[in-house]
Amino acid sequence: MYNITLIPGDGIGPEVTMAARKIIDATGIDVKWEIVNAGANVYEKKGVLVPDEVYTSIEKNKVVLKGPITTPIGCGFRSINVLLRKKYDLFANIRPVKKIKGIDTPFENINLTIFRENTEGLYSGIEKKETEGAAQAIKVITKKASLRIIKEAFDYAKENSKKKVAVVHKANIMKLTDGLFLECAREVSKEYPDIELQEVIVDNMCMQLVMNPEKYEVIVTTNLYGDILSDLCAGLVGGLGLVPGANIGKGIAVFEAVHGSAPDIAGKNIANPTAVILSGAMMLNYLGEKEKSDLIIDAVQRTIEEGKYITKDLGGISTTSEMTKAIIEKISKK
Ligand code: NAI
Ligand code: MG
Repeated sequence: MYNITLIPGDGIGPEVTMAARKIIDATGIDVKWEIVNAGANVYEKKGVLVPDEVYTSIEKNKVVLKGPITTPIGCGFRSINVLLRKKYDLFANIRPVKKIKGIDTPFENINLTIFRENTEGLYSGIEKKETEGAAQAIKVITKKASLRIIKEAFDYAKENSKKKVAVVHKANIMKLTDGLFLECAREVSKEYPDIELQEVIVDNMCMQLVMNPEKYEVIVTTNLYGDILSDLCAGLVGGLGLVPGANIGKGIAVFEAVHGSAPDIAGKNIANPTAVILSGAMMLNYLGEKEKSDLIIDAVQRTIEEGKYITKDLGGISTTSEMTKAIIEKISKK
């Protein structure tokens, strides 16, 4: 039996995480879900963003399926997502972006995985107002954090017979910070003679990904660029409703979609649950349950390919619950 922490989150979070939970349960795997919540929804009721029980549960179970959490823009509280990633040193944010059959996109063979450094960079949280008319943010890049995320990307490439890793940077302008990240990539790449290191400047990478995404297999980059490129890549395969993710540290892992709380569609039962369902599949794989993980991926794939029960963002008319039900039927029939 697995003990897993489930954080429903804000906006569409409760709808899509519930869908993922039902689908994981439908595989027959024995999971004891511990449901604890954090975010804007909890703040409204309890006046606290992350109740202590959330930390206790994460530290006890060590594996988490998480819905998105709203972060106010400008003023207000700082991101709970960034906080959890830093607190538990979840240094590797891994986001596989893959063409799904049945979704009409300009490219047939997109299959790349983004490794985003998840604990520092421009998201280190060191920001200050100099005067009324000026503010500063500090970008932190350390050799330690850079080497470990880059190694993670190369190890993944090696284990999955990938031939190339692209390091994305802006070392021409940010010579010390991105320069260090690039240097680390060059250093690590020497240990992997069979894997080619592609060095790509981030603005060019945006253009390359829009024009030639099939050229890339693994991308490793700093926090902010990784955040932006993830949404760009999601757009290449059919949108944010489809791309899953994992935040992995030493011993603790939090699985969540790339997308946010989507307040524009929250509470309407129309959100696409695929991204969180596939994050759940990544979680099962992490737990060593590859067969169950593949079962879920296959059921999602076939449901989308059939196109009968898909949500509006994919061109369908089904609700979140109808799509979830269709996926469960495919799992049960196997
Ligand atoms: P978003 O990802 O929530 O939404 C962007 C657009 O994509 C919206 O039009 C939305 O309707 C659509 N979309 C997203 N997920 C979808 C799904 N599953 N099915 C169908 N359509 C979907 O980004 P936005 O609006 O910039 O952020 C909203 C809030 O979410 C913000 O407070 C932000 O800070 C937070 N956020 C939280 C994240 C997390 O908890 N990991 C990640 C990203 C954003
Ligand atoms: Mg993002």
